[in-house]
Amino acid sequence: MAKIDLKTLKIEAEKDIEKANNLNDLDTVFKKYLGKKGEITLILRSLKDLSEKERKKTGKQANELKKFLEEKIKQRKPGFVKFSTDKEFDVSVPVQKLKVGHLHPLTLVRREIEGIFEAMGFSVISGPEIENEWYNFDALNIPANHPARDIWDTFYLKNKLLLRTHTSPVQIRFMEKNNPPFRIVVPGRIFRHEATDASHEINFYQVEGLMVGKDISAANFKAIIQEFLSRFFNKKIKIRLRPSFFPFVEPGFEVDASCTVCQGKGCSVCSKTGWLELMGAGMVHPNVLKAGGINPNNWQGFAFGVGMDRLAMMKYKIDDIRLFYNGDLRFLNQF
Ligand code: PHE
Repeated sequence: MAKIDLKTLKIEAEKDIEKANNLNDLDTVFKKYLGKKGEITLILRSLKDLSEKERKKTGKQANELKKFLEEKIKQRKPGFVKFSTDKEFDVSVPVQKLKVGHLHPLTLVRREIEGIFEAMGFSVISGPEIENEWYNFDALNIPANHPARDIWDTFYLKNKLLLRTHTSPVQIRFMEKNNPPFRIVVPGRIFRHEATDASHEINFYQVEGLMVGKDISAANFKAIIQEFLSRFFNKKIKIRLRPSFFPFVEPGFEVDASCTVCQGKGCSVCSKTGWLELMGAGMVHPNVLKAGGINPNNWQGFAFGVGMDRLAMMKYKIDDIRLFYNGDLRFLNQF
């Protein structure tokens, strides 16, 4: 048997490991030295033919070399796993297309409304969905024992907090921190404790508007809302004001828009009246200005509150408000 030269073997094996370009190469190197018929395996098997002294010495060295090479091969492996040209990871395979989502119809409508009002000089403001009784009621001229509180079916929480029933509390929050003149819109989510049906939900969205200045009048309100609606529905819209009551405005009115379907001629959507009820509005009540820290002798303005869901339903001809909230993809995929 030729003299066993473990030193040369080690140098050769290290070179082979170094040269390996992929997992296949590495496997070949493993087989060459450590496999069943590998060079080191054969050496270990032939130890029995050596003298006792030789056996001990060579046995120890060969075992050490075996461990050393196993370790070296193991260390090189991870580098190949991801980017080898083998089948493990084929960079040329086309990736699966990611399904990209899209904006919810209410988000589309909110952004459009914000854009139209911003173009008319309004700022977009937000406020908390959890309110206290002061902002949701008292400061809006609705004291604790006032029957008008019954209009809003409220979710009361602990610690005298509640889920806001309208976006009007943000009027007060804004006036507390800002001096007139100003014009703002406040899109936001609101909550009502009521039974759901095609036109009622326990939560929906409103856009509040508030414009205060030295001589802001109902005429300004009419012009701005008519312009807003015409831009939003992409057609000329007429409005009419009917006297109505909200504790936080005086005078108060209900705003009707000419029917977006029949242009006012009368059809089934508008119950043959030619008009659609759209929003509540009015001139800001002096008590509300006072609650917001503004002197009603120097300043006046208008406020309005419009249902965003209702605007979206009219624009896209949706007949059930619950469709916005139940996550049915057959509905959502249409937007
Ligand atoms: N906050 C009223 C509502 O939710 C709407 C409104 C806002 C009316 C501002 C007048 C002025 O019904």
